[in-house]
Amino acid sequence: MNWLWTTADLVDAMDGRPIGVMPEGITGISIDTRTLARGEAFFAVKGDKFDGHDFATAAMAAGAGLLVVAEAKLPALGRLQMPKIVVEDVLVAMERLAVAARARTKAQIIAVTGSVGKTTTKEMLRHALAVCGSVHASEKSFNNHWGVPLSLARMPQDTTYGIFEIGMNHPGEITPLVKLVRPHIAIVTLIAAAHLGFFRSLDEIARAKAEIFSGVVKGGHAILNRDDPRYKLLARLAGDAGVTHIHGFGENARAQFRMTDYQAQPPGACFGAKVGKRKLDVEIGAPGRHMALNALAVLGAAQLAGADIEKAAGALATLKAEKGRGRLLAFKHRDGGQFTVIDESYNANPASMRAALQLLGATPVDGGRRIAVLGDMLELGVHSAKLHKELAGPIGEAGVDRVFLAGPEIRILADNLPDQVESTYREDADTLAQLLVEAVRPGDVVMIKSSNGIGFSRLVEALTNSCEAAS
Ligand SMILES: Nc1ncnc2c1ncn2[C@@H]1O[C@H](COP(=O)(O)OP(=O)(O)O)[C@@H](O)[C@H]1O
Ligand SMILES: [Mg+2]
Repeated sequence: MNWLWTTADLVDAMDGRPIGVMPEGITGISIDTRTLARGEAFFAVKGDKFDGHDFATAAMAAGAGLLVVAEAKLPALGRLQMPKIVVEDVLVAMERLAVAARARTKAQIIAVTGSVGKTTTKEMLRHALAVCGSVHASEKSFNNHWGVPLSLARMPQDTTYGIFEIGMNHPGEITPLVKLVRPHIAIVTLIAAAHLGFFRSLDEIARAKAEIFSGVVKGGHAILNRDDPRYKLLARLAGDAGVTHIHGFGENARAQFRMTDYQAQPPGACFGAKVGKRKLDVEIGAPGRHMALNALAVLGAAQLAGADIEKAAGALATLKAEKGRGRLLAFKHRDGGQFTVIDESYNANPASMRAALQLLGATPVDGGRRIAVLGDMLELGVHSAKLHKELAGPIGEAGVDRVFLAGPEIRILADNLPDQVESTYREDADTLAQLLVEAVRPGDVVMIKSSNGIGFSRLVEALTNSCEAAS
C-alpha cells in the first residue's frame, strides 16, 4: 500500500499518543467529514464556527482510518471505538506534520502570494508542471493558518513540484506560514487594493506580502511583477530578506520573463514569451491579458524549478479558466442565436475588476452588446466609495453598452457612469436575476463579477437554468 504517512511516522512527527488498534498507515488527511475519503486521518481542527471534535462520529461513519484529537477532548470521545492519536493541540500537530512533510521531500517548492491571482497562478502551475513531473498543490484557496499546514501535510513524499498558495488579511500572517513552506521559489503576483480595509496603503500591503521572502531557502528565487508600481519596493525587501536571485515578469522591457505580444483568441489567447534567452509562442486556454501575465510567472517558475519549459508552455493550451474566475460560457438564446457569459462571480477587487472589464472590452461581440453585471467589492474599508466610483473609467474604456449593478457599496457607481451607458440598479443579486435573464439578447457578451459574498454565482445559475448551453 502506498500510504501518505505510515502511522509510525505520523505519531513520530506529531509527538502523539496512539490509542487503540492502529492501521498501518493513512491514505490522506481530512478536516471535513463531508469530503473525507475512506482510510484518511481526520484531524479534529477547531475552526471559526465549528470544532472538529463534534464531528468525530461523522468521521468514523465516513470511514476515517483514525482520528487526531486533543487531550482535553478525550473524555468526551472515550466511548468512540476508533483508533486515535491524542495530541496537545490538533492544529499544532498538523503544523508539525507539515514540517515533517517539507523535511522529507526532494520536491522543488513554489509559494504564491499577492493581492489577486494567487489561486489562478497556483492552478496554472499545477496544470503546466503536471506534464513535467508529479505535482502536489494546495486545494482551492487553502492559504491561511490551517490551509497551509494542511496542504503541506498532504504532500506525498515522492512529489516533484510542491505548489502552495499563501494568503493574508493582516500583517504578520505570512511569516509563520512561509517558514513552514520554505519555498525555493516565491512568486508575488501583484500588489493591489484587496483587503485594503485592514491597511493604510498599498505600500503597507506590499510589506505584508514581502514577508514571503523571509522563508525562501538559501540560494532561492523571488519572481516579482515587473509592471507593478511596487516592483522596486518588493525587490528591495526581497534583497533585505537575503533572497539573492530576483526576477521580474511582465511587459516591461527589463523583465526576465517577458510578454512580447498578446492576442485574444476566444476562448483563450496567444502570446509571445521571452524566458531568459528562449523565445516561445504560447497558446493559452483561458482569456485575458492578466491570465497571460500570470502565465509568464508560471513559465519563469518552471524554468527555475528545472522543468521542461517547452512542455510546460505547451500544456497551457489546454488550460481552462476556473468556474467564477474568467470561465467563458456559451448559451443558446430563446429567440435563436447565442450569447456569451464571462463568469467572474467568485471574487472582485479593483485590480481584478479592471482586468475583467478589459477582457470584456477585448471580447468580440457579434451584433450584440457588451454587458457588465457588477456587484460590491468587499473589504475596502474607508476607501470603498472612491474605489467603486472609479470603476466608471474602465467601464468607459471597455466600450460597455449596458450595466447592471447590485449591492449596497456599488450603488454610488450608478450615478457616476458615462452618459452613453444605460444602467440598472437593484439591492441584491436575487432581485436582479430575473431582470438579467430577460434583458440578454442574442450576440451579447455578459461579464458577471462581484465579491463572492454578494452571491453573483446565483446570477450565473439563473442564466444556466433558463438557457440551454451551446457547444
Ligand atoms: N494578474 C491578475 N491581475 C488582475 N486580476 C487577476 C489576475 N489574476 C487573476 N485575476 C482575477 O482576480 C480574481 C481572483 O483571482 P484568484 O486567482 O482567485 O485570486 P486570489 O487567489 O489571489 O484571491 C479572478 O477574477 C481572476 O480572474
Ligand atoms: Mg485564492
